[in-house]
Amino acid sequence: MLDKRLRCDKLKNKIMTAEQAAEFFKDGMIVGTSGFTPAGYPKAVPLALAKRAENGDKIGITVITGASVGDELDGALSRAGVLKKRYPYQTNKDCRDAINKGKIEFADMHLSHVPQWIKYGFFGKIDIALIEALAITEDGGIIPTTSIGISNVLAEKAEKIIIEINTSQPMELEGIHDIYSPKNPPLRDVIPLLKSDDRIGTTYIPCDPDKIAAIVVTDIKDKTREVAPIDETSKAIAEHLISFLDNEVKQGRLPENLLPLQSGVGSVANAVVGGLIDSKFEHLSVYSEVIQDSVIDLLDSGKVYFASGTSITISPGRLDDFYKNISKYKNKIILRPQEISNNPEIIRRLGIIAMNTAIEVDIYGNVNSTNVMGSKIMNGIGGSGDFARNAYLTVFTTPSTALYGEISAIVPMVSHHDHLEHDVDVIVTEQGIADLRGLSPKERAKVIINNCSHPNFKDKLNDHYNNVLVKSKSKHTPHLLEEALSWHRKFLETGSMK
Ligand code: COA
Repeated sequence: MLDKRLRCDKLKNKIMTAEQAAEFFKDGMIVGTSGFTPAGYPKAVPLALAKRAENGDKIGITVITGASVGDELDGALSRAGVLKKRYPYQTNKDCRDAINKGKIEFADMHLSHVPQWIKYGFFGKIDIALIEALAITEDGGIIPTTSIGISNVLAEKAEKIIIEINTSQPMELEGIHDIYSPKNPPLRDVIPLLKSDDRIGTTYIPCDPDKIAAIVVTDIKDKTREVAPIDETSKAIAEHLISFLDNEVKQGRLPENLLPLQSGVGSVANAVVGGLIDSKFEHLSVYSEVIQDSVIDLLDSGKVYFASGTSITISPGRLDDFYKNISKYKNKIILRPQEISNNPEIIRRLGIIAMNTAIEVDIYGNVNSTNVMGSKIMNGIGGSGDFARNAYLTVFTTPSTALYGEISAIVPMVSHHDHLEHDVDVIVTEQGIADLRGLSPKERAKVIINNCSHPNFKDKLNDHYNNVLVKSKSKHTPHLLEEALSWHRKFLETGSMK
């Protein structure tokens, strides 16, 4: 059975246990890993590395991944104190807590920048690449599993490579990947991808077998996450967005089958895409990062004919069923490196409709997607900025309130800036939609407050805005900084913005 997975004879003597492979890691190393969402990340070696630390070895490392990964990597290494610095995105509770307590340094980055930084040498030398693989080809090529992320770039640039061959990942995944790596400037060429379903590369990651230092065989499954059931709020957001898209078609600004869709992470994003099932749109395509449950539903219903991403992350209850039916999806899904899935050149060319989620939005259209109360990291910017800046149409969705209605998600001034007023075209809450295209800051404030804020906060926001408009010396983007920030201060002092 391993013959099918390890086809390169000269690598057969590199097989070892996870404990042996964990000995390669030294204090202070920079380690890059596969994984994008809890899919396709290494599991056995990080667990063995965490054990090493728990048994008294002093070891602290920097970890660079594609995006979030599963608990065996971020959780185990955070709890064991091995994780000292982390790039570029995380969603693990223990990792997040350690970051917010100051025990782990975290740099939140645009996901399209990460592979480039590795190629440009901006992170310094990558000591070890730890990559989950479905199989290794006769020439040492790595066939990825449920995600690609930065694996191809790591294979190219890391000093040493450790592979985890994961036998729980079905061999039928072979052929779903399309690996392409642009050259560095000044030699970079046009990326020859013109449609979501174009194939432009190889089905494996080219790799020098002499760099592969260890191969560990494991069968630990991807620990994917449940998606929250679709609630009334998310449903209303989806309905507003779909009727907006419908009107764009009527106005001749979008074709009848729209343009390729990108959707962010989280329960709201999943619900918004899920809402398309009951819409009248047909023959849709997806050009995104993460292919989650709702995209599979859209493929099953025939609404979406093709989905391109860099990872497939299916909730636990549906994973086995997906694995059994992979052949059904094989010609409808392509997984690409994140350097391609999130590439600004491609996003512009294809004319993506980008739909991402905000934590809070201000009355002028700036968006905070990452830092609660301006300082507590939630997950990170992920790919939302890659898409927001370059999309055909950039939409941000959010429930109009948070924390059981005590907080307004529409605020006078965001407490942290991720997406600027210049990048945001449309805001949608369950209350309604604000089309910001072509509006001045003062015009935006009116439409955001009146269309998107919750009735419990609308008068307060209007009072604030009218007061500021009178008192502010500048009438372009009227602000009184003290008063703007008082919304957040009030919440911190009383637990409510009301
Ligand atoms: N103030 C304080 N907390 C807030 C808030 C606000 N205005 N809005 C949301 N939150 C909190 C919620 O209470 C919840 O906290 P909990 O997990 O402790 O319960 C958490 O943020 C998540 O909110 P939820 O309503 O469950 O939203 P979600 O699952 O749809 O996630 C984001 C929303 C913004 C956190 C998520 O979409 C994200 O990380 N986005 C940035 C990255 C991104 O867009 N990636 C896309 C391409 S990779």
